[in-house]
Amino acid sequence: MLHLLPLSTLLLITSTLASPLSRTDSKPLPLLIWHGLGDNYAADGLHTVGDLANETNPDTYVYYIRLDEDADSDRTATFLGNVTAQIAQVCEDIATHKVLSKAPGLNALGFSQGGQFLRGLIERCGDTVKIKNLVTFGSQHDGITKYQICKDGDWLCKSYVGLLKANTWGTWVQGHLVPAQYFKSTNETTGAPTEEYLHNSNFLADINNERVLKNVTYAKNLAELDNFVMYLFEDDTTVIPKESGWFAYTNSTNGEVTGLRDRAIYKEDWIGLKKLDERGALHFETTKGGHMQLSDKVLRNVFKTHFSPEKASWSGLWEELQEVIEL
Ligand SMILES: *[C@@H]1O[C@H](CO)[C@@H](O)[C@H](O)[C@H]1NC(C)=O
Ligand SMILES: *[C@@H]1O[C@H](CO)[C@@H](O)[C@H](O)[C@H]1NC(C)=O
Ligand SMILES: *[C@@H]1O[C@H](CO)[C@@H](O)[C@H](O)[C@H]1NC(C)=O
Ligand SMILES: *[C@@H]1O[C@H](CO)[C@@H](O)[C@H](O)[C@H]1NC(C)=O
Ligand SMILES: *[C@@H]1O[C@H](CO)[C@@H](O)[C@H](O)[C@H]1NC(C)=O
Repeated sequence: MLHLLPLSTLLLITSTLASPLSRTDSKPLPLLIWHGLGDNYAADGLHTVGDLANETNPDTYVYYIRLDEDADSDRTATFLGNVTAQIAQVCEDIATHKVLSKAPGLNALGFSQGGQFLRGLIERCGDTVKIKNLVTFGSQHDGITKYQICKDGDWLCKSYVGLLKANTWGTWVQGHLVPAQYFKSTNETTGAPTEEYLHNSNFLADINNERVLKNVTYAKNLAELDNFVMYLFEDDTTVIPKESGWFAYTNSTNGEVTGLRDRAIYKEDWIGLKKLDERGALHFETTKGGHMQLSDKVLRNVFKTHFSPEKASWSGLWEELQEVIEL
């Protein structure tokens, strides 16, 4: 449509829209960071990332998502808890936060399981919490097929995994042990999710709209993102399969990967990914190294490309421009 408008009209629209938007020019949107399994919101490593964001886009307000103000309890909540309740709590915390609730929008960075939890937050709570850009690193968007959690010799962790494995689809496990809620079992012959998974998964089957009844709000909310950027670690051996970070399916018998664009979740657009992709807003990225081996260079690039205020105001302008033209 754009090319049909005379240049003068375009310039008029541009100058009309430029003034209300310029208010966001210098100040970056606040940044939410949701950490991964076994980490806590007060960890030094996590704050190094937040500091880097503030250094790249000066004056960035960083909020480290937590389920408890006590760091040890927050770490425990990465292992133990009902993800549905956790996301509802985070939604409430942000909605009532004195800085975050007043911002014109938010950016979000999710590490590992924190990535799919942020996506859940957007899908379920997008009417309240306005996230503009979501970047995930090594997340399990299509679930995991193995519990690769423990370091050698960690017996407490091994008994935890024993509990997970023994009764993954049980109601108690689904309501209390976090990784079970994004575990996924598939029929290897057909590639279809198993009935047990569809029936019992407390988090993933719902958030991916895999059941017969789809929640249209999820698709609408996710499709409203300015950008959804998914990073995969090239040598990730912790997330099995690592392609889960791109919503791909990996046949565990022959290793064959079916990309997102060839899957029903995309083709039938269950959660808005196709809409994002058609707008050029869905990004598949890789980075070198194993699970969560982040480099400052990659992070700086992400902050500059996706979280800088100039970028945000221009994408906002572009959207408003498209709306005006379609009228
Ligand atoms: C961001 O950096 C500035 C210095 O450039 C500092 O004054 C401010 O406290 C930092 N903000 C956060 C949230 O760390
Ligand atoms: C769909 O999700 C929204 C947001 O979480 C929720 O308010 C609504 O009740 C859900 N609808 C159905 C049919 O489950
Ligand atoms: C998880 O929490 C939600 C919300 O509190 C609740 O409706 C659901 O039954 C719980 N799930 C399990 C498996 O306990
Ligand atoms: C997988 O699907 C095939 C074809 O529908 C079926 O025959 C088989 O029993 C299924 N396997 C399992 C483990 O459910
Ligand atoms: C997975 O690979 C095996 C072995 O090649 C094959 O028999 C099976 O049909 C494949 N499953 C899917 C869903 O493609």
